[in-house]
Amino acid sequence: MVRIKMPRGAAYKPLSRRHNRILVYALLGGITIGFLYYCSGPIDALAVPFSAHEAYMNDRANVDGFISRGSYDWRKAPFHNKIESYTPLPAGKPRTLPPIQFDFPPETSSQKARRESRRVAVRNEFERSWGSYKKYAWTRDELMPLTGKGDDTFGAWGATLVDSLDTLWMMGFKDDFYDAVEAVAHIDFGKSSMNTISVFETTIRYLGGLLSAYDLSNEKVLLDKAIQLGEMLYRAFDTTNNMPLDRLPIETAKRAEAPGFSADNQICFAAIGSLTMEFTRLAQITQQPKFYDAVARVTALLDRAQNTTRIPGLFPTWINAQHEDLAHDRSFTLGAMADSSYEYFPKMYALLGGLEPVYEKLYKDSAPLIDKHMLFRPMIPDTQVGQDLLYCGNVDAYDDVEIKVDPRMQHLTCFIGGFFALAGRIFENTHDVDLGAKLTEGCIFAYKSMPTGVMPEIFHTAVCESRLSCPWNQTFYEEEVLKHSYKNKGDFEATVQEKRLPKGFTNLDDKRYLLRPEAIESVFIMYRITGYEEYLDHAWDMFVSVQKGSTTKYGNGQMLDVTANPPGVPEDKMESFWLAETLKYFYLIFSPPDMIDLDDWVFNTEAHPFRRPKLTKMEAGG
Ligand SMILES: *[C@@H]1O[C@H](CO)[C@@H](O)[C@H](O)[C@H]1NC(C)=O
Ligand SMILES: *[C@@H]1O[C@H](CO)[C@@H](O)[C@H](O)[C@H]1NC(C)=O
Repeated sequence: MVRIKMPRGAAYKPLSRRHNRILVYALLGGITIGFLYYCSGPIDALAVPFSAHEAYMNDRANVDGFISRGSYDWRKAPFHNKIESYTPLPAGKPRTLPPIQFDFPPETSSQKARRESRRVAVRNEFERSWGSYKKYAWTRDELMPLTGKGDDTFGAWGATLVDSLDTLWMMGFKDDFYDAVEAVAHIDFGKSSMNTISVFETTIRYLGGLLSAYDLSNEKVLLDKAIQLGEMLYRAFDTTNNMPLDRLPIETAKRAEAPGFSADNQICFAAIGSLTMEFTRLAQITQQPKFYDAVARVTALLDRAQNTTRIPGLFPTWINAQHEDLAHDRSFTLGAMADSSYEYFPKMYALLGGLEPVYEKLYKDSAPLIDKHMLFRPMIPDTQVGQDLLYCGNVDAYDDVEIKVDPRMQHLTCFIGGFFALAGRIFENTHDVDLGAKLTEGCIFAYKSMPTGVMPEIFHTAVCESRLSCPWNQTFYEEEVLKHSYKNKGDFEATVQEKRLPKGFTNLDDKRYLLRPEAIESVFIMYRITGYEEYLDHAWDMFVSVQKGSTTKYGNGQMLDVTANPPGVPEDKMESFWLAETLKYFYLIFSPPDMIDLDDWVFNTEAHPFRRPKLTKMEAGG
């Protein structure tokens, strides 16, 4: 790859510290600026266009000549189950897809002042956790936010380090970004202190993180690391039918005399179906078709099998990858174990520049069935509010029994608002955008309903018979609450009290909040699509509540009970997605809308944006 040197920008320092601010202030001087400064908050002069931010961040790229280290060259590792010919990346010039983002008008100075002060608050929150990570858990997978220690959970290669790279870049932490790049260059993907690694988690967090940071910065060592890691993960496809393993045994994968692997006879849909974006981006950048071929084979299986499942069109939670059987499992969900594979259908379509119709087909044959069988309107006392809400539950498909939704809503499933809205824009389907808005509204409502202002990990509500009309029915509500009552069997009031159930909620199956991003992710996407200002206020409320409930001495920890107000002491756990996803989406919604424009970038499921292919100006006839 020829690296295109980014232009050296003016000496712009984004959101810089106090002394820089004073310097800028003094330089520019004058009452005008002083007045702007006064009414727009401290960083007004620094909210520059994306291209200037890019030039500022990247004028250092490659100057330090970071060298990628590694104790083993995965390119030389065996691959027993040879592939005769590779499926090539789709040929042709990328199509111009319908616009995703709202055409934002210039903001007023008061809008700007509010947005910027919120943006700084998010950035400060990131800086606090990142500072502790640097000091107490550097190069470990996670910071323990209560005790200030390090922990290893995902291969022990520094999950938080790699996962945070692009957030550092976006937030303008230039020195920290290049310090992190240097540490990443030293990661040894040649071995792991763990026997097996999760192929899915390693792909979305590490490979996605490296590729995204490379796409943003053009820093070559990041691509070198992505190739090292990609070569290792590619060994997960060394199975008799080339379907990827759930977990890769690292040392076995190196052994020439070992026979390769057999694919899993039970792997969840998310683990097999959501490697596509990362491997495709790696293939696009390296022009090595084998990386695309690997995931294209999985997609071909999903395409073949889509109408063979218990609910033709939908994909079950569990798949027999060894026998390529999707007809067995009866459980269907858009939550844990399935979510991101659906998410990747429209995103893959965008990443491939609209040149691969299979992803449109996979989406269009599944989305109406999700709508029909899994989406439901919750019964809540305020029918005015209720008519704008949707949730997504699970279904089990038993023979000869009507398919009925289990109204079990997970925080993980909150990605679905952004998912439907994004796909609705890409495929020009306003019904789906509308579903996305209501699903997002559902998650916002769940946040607002809890005493801490934070949605729990899993809850149940009562299901409306009709989405159009749904009067409150106390008898029905009490029946539904008692279905989940074990301790106070038969006593409605006692059950409500014991579980601290907000009205409308029939059970809080898991009261924790694990610092997850999916709700703010959807709010962010809805905002970028519609430009509606109320999303900014919802996002801010969510941020303030999460901050209040999760702040610890060293960072932020998982909340144990979102109904306990004041909130209790958080758990000593901060997964890498807090810095990689949650705070990134909070930051982006309060950034100018050209900061990671959805018409130029597409996010993987770990909030790592990949560059979308575009016609050059000349090709587009411009
Ligand atoms: C699968 O089923 C759906 C719904 O019945 C139908 O519209 C579609 O054409 C089918 N696809 C294939 C490839 O058979
Ligand atoms: C309210 O719910 C109860 C229990 O499910 C049901 O029997 C009754 O018909 C419902 N009332 C109305 C007005 O729908």
